[in-house]
Amino acid sequence: MIKLDLSNIILPLDLKAYEAKVKKIHAMIENKTGQGNDYLGWLAWPLNYDKTEFVKIKKSAKYIRDNFDILVVAGIGGSYLGARAAIEALQGLYHNNKLEIIFLGQTLSATYTQQVLNHLKGKKFAINVISKSGTTTETSVAFRLIKELLETQVGKEAARKAIFATTDKSDGALRKLSTQEGYVSFVLPGDIGGRYSVLTAVGLLPIAAAGFDVDRLMLGALDAFKDTNNDSLLENTCYQYAVARDYLYRHNYKVEMFVTYEPQFAMITEWLKQLYGESEGKEKKGLLPASVNFSTDLHSLGQFIQEGSPILFETIVFVKTPSIDIAIPHDEQDLDGLNYLQGKKLSYVNEQAFRATLDAHVKEGKVPNIVIELDKLDAYTLGYIFYFFMRSVAMSGYLLEINPFNQPGVEVYKRNMFKRLGKPGF
Ligand code: PA5
Repeated sequence: MIKLDLSNIILPLDLKAYEAKVKKIHAMIENKTGQGNDYLGWLAWPLNYDKTEFVKIKKSAKYIRDNFDILVVAGIGGSYLGARAAIEALQGLYHNNKLEIIFLGQTLSATYTQQVLNHLKGKKFAINVISKSGTTTETSVAFRLIKELLETQVGKEAARKAIFATTDKSDGALRKLSTQEGYVSFVLPGDIGGRYSVLTAVGLLPIAAAGFDVDRLMLGALDAFKDTNNDSLLENTCYQYAVARDYLYRHNYKVEMFVTYEPQFAMITEWLKQLYGESEGKEKKGLLPASVNFSTDLHSLGQFIQEGSPILFETIVFVKTPSIDIAIPHDEQDLDGLNYLQGKKLSYVNEQAFRATLDAHVKEGKVPNIVIELDKLDAYTLGYIFYFFMRSVAMSGYLLEINPFNQPGVEVYKRNMFKRLGKPGF
């Protein structure tokens, strides 16, 4: 499913030197004895997720598709990125999906928020509000505004039937409101943190409502679970990837640049940036995750990667067979000199760009490259890679000797903001 190639990392990584450490950490993850072990609910989730809730998710998704033109998904961070990443990857950026999905609550921008509200005026829309805590400012502000618009347009009773809430099982403001208002609601389990929640209702409801096959998504995740639940580093590509990142970090490469050749994959790299950045960036340690989309960014950041400060390595996630292909046509005059490519598929040209860039960056630029090849971009593959990357960060976080499951640093800006805004108690 995933082909991992470590032959371009330039430095001589000796996997055997990591074997014992990996075995020990694998046992720590499995036995739940490491730091943050009360947030390992995602680990066996592809196996033991709540099947009754899963049916309920699919039923609500169908109801939304059948009865509305737009679904507004309100959430931020882990309560937003996975769904958006999956939906964009699967449907592409220009499409004719009958249900439009709009994301709100991931920004405090008044312009963005008001433009979304303007766009929704007079339209038939449902809301999926997603917040584990129920008190996240961005999400709460957006929900208050959008709920008001919905109630004004359809009345309180119909609004209640158009609001779907995903939150903690029993705690928090959103759970309380859902119970009080009788919203159809879903659970973000207490032992799964936001950035590990894409395979729960947090990701599944929007993805299913967008019309994608969540059964295949969960099957992909299950296969990844089976493939990666193995303490043998020589066989486990997920742990090999974790080890390669750790090794490069310890050899002074402090930035991991995720590279994609498909614009519709860009939000997956945003999801990866949160997963790795929020999990590892603590105690003055961790790789800074960044991202580029090639060949677009070869005409901007490409120069820096080729010849700039030697602080980064690249992790390319390359999709071998694109969802749609197109051939380059013949032109009688050939003024652009492109007839040498006539009849060739654009995917072929894109792949040559990838291979040529790999050579340029590795051989001449001396930039280490990790290559992950995917056969195609479908729901199964996405389920697989979501799980693969989550398990890999558990391993690499523990290799760094930090807690990969908390995010204490995120609270600092919130405290300062609440103080400035005059929130009671701050
Ligand atoms: O990964 C995380 O835990 C965070 O990104 C949260 O998901 C994000 O802050 C949103 O939190 P909540 O779901 O409580 O609104």
